Amino acid sequence: MGYADTRDRLEHYFDRTASKTWERLTSDAPVSRIRQTVREGRDAMRAALLARLPADIRGLRVLDAGCGTGAATAAMAARGAEVVAVDISASLIEVARTRVPVADLRRVTFHAGDMLDPGLGRFDHVLAMDSLIHYRAGDIALMLAQLAARTKASVVFTVAPRTPALTAMWWAGKLFPRSDRSPAIVPHAEADIAGALRAAGVTWRLRPGTRVARGFYISQAMELVP
Ligand SMILES: C[S@@+](CC[C@H](N)C(=O)[O-])C[C@H]1O[C@@H](n2cnc3c(N)ncnc32)[C@H](O)[C@@H]1O
Repeated sequence: MGYADTRDRLEHYFDRTASKTWERLTSDAPVSRIRQTVREGRDAMRAALLARLPADIRGLRVLDAGCGTGAATAAMAARGAEVVAVDISASLIEVARTRVPVADLRRVTFHAGDMLDPGLGRFDHVLAMDSLIHYRAGDIALMLAQLAARTKASVVFTVAPRTPALTAMWWAGKLFPRSDRSPAIVPHAEADIAGALRAAGVTWRLRPGTRVARGFYISQAMELVP
């Protein structure tokens, strides 16, 4: 399955099948113990990714690529960044719009659509938390190549690491009832991403970051820098 097919399946999943589940998972509402571990893991990963941005991001233009319900968008806008929040799911963009405090809304531009849309402009940094995890290595590399070409300082992102635990118990299998299952998550070794980036002609350096493994959540931070 190529990039556009994966993106279209994700749009269907995050815009319809799972939009309410995501809205709840990413809120303060009570969730099952299993989902609570996912929530905690995601909070830890978001903190790790945000810590890779400069301490002072006031006035910097940052793309939250696949922003979902906007937790990272809200955090970056609170720190004074000019955030472009894009997601292929229009319904999650609407949730994100309600979650950014009113005082920070003037620093955020929301966009329902493809994160690769060149019309979104140029950025100082791009953050893509768990929004590339359903794509194959070749597609991730092509996405990163396009994002990096429009970015000055760094692209911070996550991949699903290739671990036996992930294969065995990722939340595709355990977290949602069968009818609600997410599109497959594709685990990658760092070397596969590095190789795919080289094949895509990306000359930026790939730096591994924090790995967060919390209950049913496992994700590996990475960073591309010029
Ligand atoms: C697992 S969710 C993570 C959302 C958010 N980054 C977070 O951590 O809370 C992945 C998101 O990426 C979005 N997404 C996937 N591919 C995309 C694309 N090509 N363009 C825009 N959004 C995309 C999905 O719609 C979904 O909301």
